[in-house]
Amino acid sequence: LATSEVDIGSIQAGESVTVKWRGKPVVVRNRTEQEIADAKAAALSELKDPIARNANLPADAPATDANRAAEGKENWFVMVNVCTHLGCIPLGQEGEYHGWFCPCHGSVYDTAGRIRKGPAPENMAIPVYSFLSDTKIRIG
Ligand code: FES
Repeated sequence: LATSEVDIGSIQAGESVTVKWRGKPVVVRNRTEQEIADAKAAALSELKDPIARNANLPADAPATDANRAAEGKENWFVMVNVCTHLGCIPLGQEGEYHGWFCPCHGSVYDTAGRIRKGPAPENMAIPVYSFLSDTKIRIG
């Protein structure tokens, strides 16, 4: 499907759902306060990939947490859950930064899906999406 609608009304803080979009898993996560704080605490200079990789923003937007999270709703986080190394599916809430960990070759992503360690070259991608209401988003 070109677009996918996701009901997010029952996703509590600290929970995620994964939906298929264009054959790829897209994770929708309701981040915890701690996850948001951790992501905000990272300086751009610490990041391996300083580009947001957010399809909703200009191609050169910096990889701040604000540019990775949903605009104006920083707890909501939508991401194509595919490792930018060789395309494995990283595991959520794992690894040193408590974001995602790719078991294939050890790439470590933070709570904003930004690559922090390991062979992956880029932050995981943020797809085009929008809020249809407070409880529903459309991906694509
Ligand atoms: Fe994820 Fe290689 S595919 S680290």
